[in-house]
Amino acid sequence: MNIYVYGTGCVAGDLADTALPPERITAFVDRSDGGSFLGRPVIRPEALSGQRVDLLIVSSRASYETERELLGLGIDPDRILYLKNHCSITDRNRNYEAARSVLGERFVDRLLGSERLIRVPLWTETEAVSGPGADSDYVRLKTLEALCLRLQGIPGAVAELGVYRGAFARWLNSFLPERRLYLFDTFSGFDETEAKGYGEGFLSAHRRTAIRQVLGLLPHPELAVIREGLFPESAAGMEDERFALVSLDVDLEESSYAGLCWFLPRIVAGGFLLLHDWNNPKLPGVKRALDRYERESGRLPSVPLCDVNGTLVICKTEV
Ligand SMILES: C[S@@+](CC[C@H](N)C(=O)[O-])C[C@H]1O[C@@H](n2cnc3c(N)ncnc32)[C@H](O)[C@@H]1O
Repeated sequence: MNIYVYGTGCVAGDLADTALPPERITAFVDRSDGGSFLGRPVIRPEALSGQRVDLLIVSSRASYETERELLGLGIDPDRILYLKNHCSITDRNRNYEAARSVLGERFVDRLLGSERLIRVPLWTETEAVSGPGADSDYVRLKTLEALCLRLQGIPGAVAELGVYRGAFARWLNSFLPERRLYLFDTFSGFDETEAKGYGEGFLSAHRRTAIRQVLGLLPHPELAVIREGLFPESAAGMEDERFALVSLDVDLEESSYAGLCWFLPRIVAGGFLLLHDWNNPKLPGVKRALDRYERESGRLPSVPLCDVNGTLVICKTEV
C-alpha cells in the first residue's frame, strides 16, 4: 500500500505517535524540505505525480491551498484525508473509505467528532481572518482579532513564548502592526528533560523549524525581536519591558508555569495573556501550571474559549 502523509509538523508527528507507525508511511510530502522525517523520506509534492496513491493524509493546516495543489497533480480526491480544516472537517473530505481501511474505524470516528467546529457569522468589518488563507482554528483567530481591537489605547509590546513555525505569530504581527513583537523559542524543540515521556513524532516535529522560516511568514518582520534559547533564561535583560498581549504556548508544565510567573506581572492593565492548550486533554501540564500559579498568587480573571485546543484568556485588570 502506498500511504503518504502531507506535512512534517506536529499534526504529522502526532499521527505517527498515535495511529500510523512511520514504517507504514511510504513517504512524507513537504514543499520546503528534502531529507527524512521519522526515518522516512521527505519528497516534494510534484514527486507524487504519476505514483499510485492509496491514501494521502494531509496534516497541513492550509488545506485549501494543498487541495488545489494535489488536484493539479492528478491525485484522486477520494484518496485524500484532511485532518484539519478552516471550519468543519466534514466540509473537506469526500470519502472516508480508504482512511477507514488504513487508520481504522475508531480513528475516523474520532476525527469526525473532534474536528466539528460550529460555523459562526463573520463579524468584523475588515475580515482579515477568513477564507482559504486562515489557519484551521477559526475561533482562536477571530478571538485574537477582537482582543487586538480592544487593545486600542493600551500601551505595551506583544510577545509569544512558544513560536514553533510562526503560524500564530504571523497573526499577532498582522493585527498589531505598530507594536514590537518578541518571539521566544529555542527554535530547536523542547527541552529534552522536560519533555521526557512524550512521543518521538511530537518531539521530532517540533525540532523542524527555523527562525528564517518564521520571519518569512510575518507581514512586518522588522518589528520582530527573536529571543532564541530556553525560557526563562532567554528573557534575561528584559525585566523592564511591559506587554499588552502575550501568547503563551509551550505545551508543558514547567515552561508554562515559568511563562505565567515571568509575564503576568509585566502585562499592563487592560492587557491579555492567552494560555493556549489550557483545556487540552493531551497536554494536561498546562492546566496544572495555571492551578499552581493560582494557588500561590490568587485566582486570575479569565475567560475560557471554545477554540480547538481550549485557550484561556487571562485579563489583566490591575498592575
Ligand atoms: C506548540 S509549539 C508553539 C506553536 C505556536 N504558538 C503556533 O500556534 O503555531 C510549542 C513551542 O514551544 C517551544 N518551547 C517549549 N518550552 C520552551 C522553553 N522553555 N523555552 C523556549 N521555547 C520553548 C517549543 O520549542 C515549541 O516550538
